[in-house]
Amino acid sequence: MESAFDYWSAKALLEWQVELGATDAVCDVPVYRYALQQAAPKATKADVAPKIVKPEEIDPVAEAQKAAAAANSLSALKDAMDGFDHCLLKRGARNLVFADGTAGARVMIIGEAPDRDEDLQGKPFVGRAGQLLDKMLAAIDLNRAENVYIANVLPWRPPQNRDPEPAEMAMMLPFLERHVALAKPDVLVLMGNISCQAVLGRRGITRLRGKWDQAWGKPTIPMFHPAFLLRQTQQKRQAWADLLELKARLKGN
Ligand code: URA
Repeated sequence: MESAFDYWSAKALLEWQVELGATDAVCDVPVYRYALQQAAPKATKADVAPKIVKPEEIDPVAEAQKAAAAANSLSALKDAMDGFDHCLLKRGARNLVFADGTAGARVMIIGEAPDRDEDLQGKPFVGRAGQLLDKMLAAIDLNRAENVYIANVLPWRPPQNRDPEPAEMAMMLPFLERHVALAKPDVLVLMGNISCQAVLGRRGITRLRGKWDQAWGKPTIPMFHPAFLLRQTQQKRQAWADLLELKARLKGN
């Protein structure tokens, strides 16, 4: 298709989109939406007739609870999350980021949400924060291949890595609770404020970190998020203390 714009107009439009916050091209080739509109068939009476279930009557949390409860294995849970269409983040994400590591491991880490690298690879904590996480775990003899399982509060990347909205967290929480029940870890590690807010209903990681709590019947320890530690390297000392606390707990039980 011949371009509707010359080079300079196209460049200006692209820069404008980047300024508005676009970070990725979703399709390999541009979609010429004016042409699509002309080609689209006219709506029939049936298309415009009122549907029986109005969108506002759907309770996404209740839908999530139903779907999560019906999943009897981790792979069924992954399929259920993949088929859950009520969270709009799914539309802007490339991949569902379900989990990584060893299912059934004693330690389950709960992060916040996928970033760009995780969205591209479909795996949690594979970017810079993930590399630091792996180093932190290795320092207390833990690793994904043997004894750690990792998931996130949200399985889809929020646009521009913005914080998840309360409604998004609420509708994905039944899946996370089921995830924990099926993975059966001995302890949970909550990485950062968002995870604490979702799982414990509280924020304030500076106060919460390093202190054992309970979530879904499991001993749970909040820690600084590795992405935060990349920015605030002086806090690594505290993170080290929390890792030693985790190690001691695993040894003791
Ligand atoms: N940060 C998270 O909390 N989770 C990821 O998977 C990546 C970055």
